[in-house]
Amino acid sequence: MNPSNIHHSSDDLQLARDLVEINHAPASLHNADRNGFLRPLPLWLMAFSMFLFFWAGMYLAYNSGGFKANVFDASVVSWSGGGSGGAAAAVDMKVLGKKVFTQTCVICHQATGLGVPGQFPPLVGTEWVLSQDWHGDNHLVKQVLYGMQGPITVKGLPYNNAMAAWSQLSDQQIAAVLTYVRSEWGNNAPPITTEFVTKVRADTKPRTEAWNLAEMKAIPKEMCSGSAAPATPPAKK
Ligand code: HEC
Repeated sequence: MNPSNIHHSSDDLQLARDLVEINHAPASLHNADRNGFLRPLPLWLMAFSMFLFFWAGMYLAYNSGGFKANVFDASVVSWSGGGSGGAAAAVDMKVLGKKVFTQTCVICHQATGLGVPGQFPPLVGTEWVLSQDWHGDNHLVKQVLYGMQGPITVKGLPYNNAMAAWSQLSDQQIAAVLTYVRSEWGNNAPPITTEFVTKVRADTKPRTEAWNLAEMKAIPKEMCSGSAAPATPPAKK
């Protein structure tokens, strides 16, 4: 070292201070990051968060009902009444019914109710849905409760496929979805009441397998008498 530089000039002092600061800088950085804030996220965590965001997005897309209030709260719907009493109950059932339909039936019978030719029969104007000919409201309920398989005819066209059972739905959900189906796409049949579904389910126990046409035809036709809501107002609410 050059001895002429041993004395401390103010330049040297400044230099020394700078050096101390430089030396301290990494140390303080290190302290600040003792908890790992400055370390990059592990790759798995990034992937996982991206998956979470994606999942949340899909969940919202499928379950938000388009963020329309009336999907969840029937009271938001304004209803012109349809001429008869018991309108409030009908509103609930149609809104609930649409929800059940969208969640359970739409994949096969389609949002148009027209089904898929040759595979899934339509629900528009069919004798099954409207309880015409030998078909009763009881057949319709039983069919949705336990499913249907094998050859059947719908509006004169043959189908030979299988429909799953929906007995896991509540009586109210089944009544609602059938009420919806029977009044949508130009269909114009009276509602199916929850009480009727409860009765048919009780009559049908203990059953687990899907019906076939012969079995179904052997069951005498019954209609949901409570369907004209105003005639015998059930004890509501
Ligand atoms: C996995 C597809 C699938 C789903 C989901 C499904 N169905 Fe079906 N549905 C069928 C098939 C297939 C048939 C005809 C069965 C046969 O060929 O024996 C049928 C027949 C019917 C029939 C009688 C025939 C007609 O078209 O009028 C009704 C009524 C019906 N389904 C209502 C419903 C309702 C209500 C739901 C929702 C709760 C539903 N289905 C869910 C496939 C399905």
